[in-house]
Amino acid sequence: MGRLIVVSNRVAKPTETKGSAGGLAVAIFGALKDTGGVWFGWSGEVVSEAVAHAGPTLVEEGTVTFATVGLVRRDYDQYYRGFSNATLWPVFHYRNDLAAYERDDYAGYRRVNAWLAHKLVKLLAPDDIIWVHDYHLIPFADALRREGIGNRIGFFLHTPFPAPQVLLNVPPHEELIKSLCCYDVVGFQTDTDRGAFHDYLVRHAHGTVSEQGEIEAFGRRLRTDVYRIGVFPDEIAREAERNESRQHVLELKQSLEGRELVMSVDRLDYSKGLVERFKAFERLLENAPQWRGNVTLVQIAPPTRADVESYQEIRHNLEYEAGRINGRFSGLDYTPIRYLNQRYARSQLMSLFRESQVGFVTPLRDGMNLVAKEYVAAQNPEDPGVLVLSEFAGAAAELCAAVLVNPHDIAGMAEALERALAMPLAERRQRHEVNMAALRKNDLGTWRDRFLADLRGEPYG
Ligand code: G6P
Repeated sequence: MGRLIVVSNRVAKPTETKGSAGGLAVAIFGALKDTGGVWFGWSGEVVSEAVAHAGPTLVEEGTVTFATVGLVRRDYDQYYRGFSNATLWPVFHYRNDLAAYERDDYAGYRRVNAWLAHKLVKLLAPDDIIWVHDYHLIPFADALRREGIGNRIGFFLHTPFPAPQVLLNVPPHEELIKSLCCYDVVGFQTDTDRGAFHDYLVRHAHGTVSEQGEIEAFGRRLRTDVYRIGVFPDEIAREAERNESRQHVLELKQSLEGRELVMSVDRLDYSKGLVERFKAFERLLENAPQWRGNVTLVQIAPPTRADVESYQEIRHNLEYEAGRINGRFSGLDYTPIRYLNQRYARSQLMSLFRESQVGFVTPLRDGMNLVAKEYVAAQNPEDPGVLVLSEFAGAAAELCAAVLVNPHDIAGMAEALERALAMPLAERRQRHEVNMAALRKNDLGTWRDRFLADLRGEPYG
């Protein structure tokens, strides 16, 4: 069997692939280890021309090579900050109102894809298979093909794929989707995303799509399928339990003084519905006075992409809302919303999830949302917390025993919180069991192995 080559904008650090702590990184590293291979991408650093030119930097970990390159300032601005995160990210999350388009940024996006592909070519062997991840790298296969690479290349989109009417707002949509058709297999998180891609091909690119997902478009043949990304639920459960009595959990417990705990963890991104969530929590305190002083929302939100304007705005709005709501409902010994712009270790988060009564996960749009899955997995099955989940997270298709909400409906979310906080033990256990069964049926290993089997053209299982 040929080696596996994984390409993603960010590459995990070798240390993040150890133990159960790394989730996705552990799963991908597992597949890389099986056949030997390379994990290639951006180092996360902005560097000088000379350093960028000298890359990739290679770090060996057994049979796996971590190969990373730095980006010069202009490439970072155009490829990462510009077209990837100021154009594609908002449009793929149905936020055309926040999308900006600059022709030069798109040129930079294609240039960096071509440059990265050129760097990778030197590391490739003829029977390697190549698995590319996410919206930063849509033209990557096209760029490799132009370098004469005939290997099997697959692409997995971690974000939603927007309906054609939304995608049409990206001026070079046709060129972009044409280059997506240079992959052999294209994977999506949900049927809706895959359906939107098919719709685009049929309506706007004279493509044909068979029932099995065999596609002909732009003179290329490829296949698509849905591969819902998962977690390793039993490992998360063990980790949450193991960390149950660690200092940070005890400190939080003590500070809550018996109050109920609602937990939320997200990157500080406008797609996560954080402002609406804070307002829903406010509505709960407004409508249900018995909860005033008796329930705390802990929102962990590490900042991300802070040099993109829309991210500065969401941060500002959120700070305003947290201050306003806390001003309104705090007591001398009570703060309703604890808003933390910090990153916590995964093991800490899992044990905080286990300590809480409600997981409040309400994105306006999300490819999958692994926090929702992790929340379920981290619960104590004897006394589980309740997941309140947005119907617009990919995870909602599987976690059907969560309390589902529309994140635009503030009153509806407040009611859902009230219901979750008051839910009897028997119902909580039953919902937890159903959700855990869904997580076990389709875990992270299944996601990975199904995709790789399809990419290799082998039967799965
Ligand atoms: C999302 C994207 C990932 C990305 C992550 C962190 O989950 O789908 O591709 O790595 O956000 O974003 P950042 O811009 O910090 O890499």
